[in-house]
Amino acid sequence: TSLHVLDQLKRPLRDLRISVTDRCNFRCTYCMPKEVFGDDYAFMPKSELLSFEEMTRLAKQFVAFGVKKIRITGGEPLLRRDLPELIRMLCAIDGLDDIGLTTNGLLLKQHGKALFEAGLKRLNVSLDSLSKETFGKMNGRGIGPGPILENIDYAKALGFQVKVNMVVQKGVNDHEVVPMAAYFKERGITLRFIEFMDVGNDNGWSFRQVVTKKEILAQLQKNENLTPVDADYFGEVAGRYRYADSTAEVGFITSVSESFCSSCTRARLSSDGKFYMCLFASAGHDLRAIIRSGAEDKELASAIRSIWEKRDDRYSDERTEQTAKNRKKIGMSYIGG
Ligand code: GTP
Ligand code: 5AD
Ligand code: SF4
Ligand code: SF4
Repeated sequence: TSLHVLDQLKRPLRDLRISVTDRCNFRCTYCMPKEVFGDDYAFMPKSELLSFEEMTRLAKQFVAFGVKKIRITGGEPLLRRDLPELIRMLCAIDGLDDIGLTTNGLLLKQHGKALFEAGLKRLNVSLDSLSKETFGKMNGRGIGPGPILENIDYAKALGFQVKVNMVVQKGVNDHEVVPMAAYFKERGITLRFIEFMDVGNDNGWSFRQVVTKKEILAQLQKNENLTPVDADYFGEVAGRYRYADSTAEVGFITSVSESFCSSCTRARLSSDGKFYMCLFASAGHDLRAIIRSGAEDKELASAIRSIWEKRDDRYSDERTEQTAKNRKKIGMSYIGG
């Protein structure tokens, strides 16, 4: 009995990405560079954050409009206190098929078990390199890959389905493509290569630093036999490839070289309750204000409907060096990818 809603480009609403905090314990150079997110950076005060009750109430409205999949993001979502409680609340929503969480993995030892027991089954863990030096530089905190790799094994042992995300940046970690692929192939874990994107206004992006899917695939195919796999569902973000001699797969997220806006069914909710139509949007719609004004569910529903119906965002289709430099965009750590 879901009320369907289509945007200006006839795209349905299917996924909701909820950012639960704008904070992170890493300072990845491509996301939260230290120079910008320093010790005195003003993160959001707690009063601004949506409560779990508010998130769940919104999530129910989104599910009524056809959302099947919720992804929890940050910043680093494991920094949000009592996160398993939110998972329990979301799991109880009728009509929701899938809940995933995207994390840098550092705190999985502490929180993994409670999250799994609360009902979370899928994790995407970010890891850009197996080299201590390269990874330490990229995460801005000097943290090596060791603890993340241990926590990935731990999460697998708990029963999580785990995928790994690697952002590939030219001259920074592109020499790690083959070793990363070999490491995760051996463990039967899907590794997804993400083209470096011009998220936010602070990451100094240019086309020159992008390593495209085509280039990455060419590197892999020197030693591996990889064949494309059909998408699992409409709007799947990663293009997947299977190894001839393994059950493992690799994926490519080609926001730059082959944009996928025409099938983008994703809505984003920031930790302070703003509703964004695109990862590269410059402004959001304040759903928190509507909730906190004491609105009833039907007012919330009609706000969500009218916002989605006006949606015409397709940033990655339109990207140029000019838009990358000049367009004002929300921060990745604020909206959660
Ligand atoms: P599953 O497919 O459910 O496992 O998750 P996902 O790939 O959608 O989520 P994840 O958080 O792991 O994102 C992986 C990468 O894809 C990140 O770099 C995201 O920023 C990027 N991404 C996800 N959705 C979009 C999108 O709508 N547009 C763009 N440009 N990038 C996206
Ligand atoms: N380009 C591509 N991917 C990025 N991510 C963060 N910043 C960028 C960027 N500039 C990735 C993270 C994480 C996911 C949510 O988004 O590494 O895996
Ligand atoms: Fe933190 Fe993820 Fe951004 Fe890195 S990419 S700074 S881990 S939110
Ligand atoms: Fe969707 Fe915007 Fe990403 Fe295009 S750039 S796929 S519209 S979030």
